[in-house]
Amino acid sequence: MMSNTTMKTEWVVGMSVAAALLAAGATWARPPFTPEELAEQKAALIESVARGYDLWHGARADMTTNGLACGNCHPDTAAANPQTFPKYMTMYGKVIPFREMVNWCIENPQAGARLDVNSDDMVAMEAYAYYLHRGKEITPGLAAYQTTPIVVEYGTGFARKPTGLGVDTKP
Ligand code: HEC
Repeated sequence: MMSNTTMKTEWVVGMSVAAALLAAGATWARPPFTPEELAEQKAALIESVARGYDLWHGARADMTTNGLACGNCHPDTAAANPQTFPKYMTMYGKVIPFREMVNWCIENPQAGARLDVNSDDMVAMEAYAYYLHRGKEITPGLAAYQTTPIVVEYGTGFARKPTGLGVDTKP
């Protein structure tokens, strides 16, 4: 059993460490983002979404050897169901991330060259698909039927390439 002195010393040391952490925490804490910072962050996201739109509609020649692009079979990213991933896909026989499914469709229906899963272009593929599916429910059997075009604040999907959307500060 510890003596009272030892316990007291430990308590003092413990409180000092806690106080030091609190003080450090106060130094590390940063103020909330300014409207300008939020606008920059939104603009960066929309830039990636717009790049994803381009890629989804044939911007990279090496993603296809038969002229097909994602948008031909998945208009407005319909039936891509990004929000349901990671999930089990029978062609792999295991649970895979959305990125791998993107590569499956590049290599199979489009007979193209897979993207580096860590590349900015793959992030853009995700950004576009996930952006259009924000707030979309995950329902049983979702992968088995064609989803209707996703309604976003800028209209129904992106009929045209989105431009100049990074100006507001909405999350
Ligand atoms: C020729 C039509 C065709 C093209 C082009 C195509 N896909 Fe697909 N895609 C399919 C079919 C068919 C499936 C269903 C495969 C299955 O589950 O057996 C599918 C499934 C998917 C899924 C999984 C959906 C889910 O809920 O399981 C994703 C993600 C996807 N495609 C993304 C893409 C992307 C990204 C591209 C472009 C690189 C693309 N697809 C191009 C036909 C196509």
